[in-house]
Amino acid sequence: MNARIAGIGYYVPERIVTNEELTKVMDTTNEWIVERTGIEERRYVDKHKETTSTLAAEAAKIAIERAGLTPEDIDFIVFATLSPDYYFPGSGVLLQRHLGIKGIGCLDIRTQCTGFIYGISIADQYIKTGMYKNILVVGAEVHSAGLDFTTRGRNVTVIFGDGAGAAVLQPTEDETKGILTTNLHADGEYAEHLAFYNPGTHGGAFLKDQGGLEFPDEPDLGGMHLTQEMLDKEAIYPHMNGRYVFKHAVEKFPAAIEEACEAVGCTADDINMLIPHQANLRITQMIQLKFGFEDERVYNNIQKYGNTTAASIPIALCEAWEKGLIKEGDLVCLAAFGSGFTWGAAMIRW
Ligand code: ACO
Repeated sequence: MNARIAGIGYYVPERIVTNEELTKVMDTTNEWIVERTGIEERRYVDKHKETTSTLAAEAAKIAIERAGLTPEDIDFIVFATLSPDYYFPGSGVLLQRHLGIKGIGCLDIRTQCTGFIYGISIADQYIKTGMYKNILVVGAEVHSAGLDFTTRGRNVTVIFGDGAGAAVLQPTEDETKGILTTNLHADGEYAEHLAFYNPGTHGGAFLKDQGGLEFPDEPDLGGMHLTQEMLDKEAIYPHMNGRYVFKHAVEKFPAAIEEACEAVGCTADDINMLIPHQANLRITQMIQLKFGFEDERVYNNIQKYGNTTAASIPIALCEAWEKGLIKEGDLVCLAAFGSGFTWGAAMIRW
């Protein structure tokens, strides 16, 4: 028994933030951002009204309706995010509350940009074993709440945006359809190259003794409470070693795609639509070049939304489907790489 995507939806906040707007708070230019990342604008939440789980709920309602279901039909939730509403509990239970469905299991997963691929892989296994029938998989992020809006944070801040995407997975008897394979990978050796350390239990400078990197600006002690030292050293923002991330991304994306092709006995030429995690347009262009895909076979919307991490694949998949670019019977490949490092791919016969 395969799992198929029975309904898909996405939601992005109304507020559009252009590159020009960012130039008012940090030393950057529209040209720099477009040239290095392809991003022209992104969305930010209204912090008084929207959170990660409320964005997720909007996307989920659309996906559930398109699957011909009501929230009561959902029997399990998988929620992928790196920017949860609370440190704990996870956003899955908050989404459950927004949807008004009590009692079902909610699993929060922390695999960043690869979160949606991990999520549908988990859902696929539960459906294959017959444990659940209607699984809601969501990726949602509110990055705007955690970024450094000064020149110091410009290499990270210009890249990220807020949004949510959701899919309902159901069993199908047709073994030629649905999720044909998923592959999941990680290498914790690179954990600190793309990370948000504080608050956390990592022990500050002690990080390096655990195989992590040495950060001269890290406070002596980590902890679940922000300390004055963290604030003084401004060690409260995400860190990204951009060039290092780029180098690994352009290797791991193709490796995951090739592995998925091998698993289903096809070649990259057979893929009708590649939906890559929208990390950076330059990364996607390098993947496209490697496989020789025509523009019509690779979907990009990072120009409008920036990098929405766990939400980027379901948003892109849904948008491509809404535009009629994915048709019944198409072979659709999802692929991601991100913090962890984590990477993976899924091959779906639509
Ligand atoms: N505006 C203007 N100048 C900037 C900005 C900015 N927003 N950000 C950095 N710069 C400056 C730097 O300060 C540096 O200046 P210097 O030469 O005077 O020191 C110069 O531009 C070059 O900086 P680099 O960081 O070396 O810039 P690079 O060419 O590597 O581009 C970028 C940075 C775009 C982040 C690139 O490394 C990249 O794309 N990396 C991949 C990371 C990525 O895509 N991450 C996405 C999230 S992770 C994921 O989803 C997989």
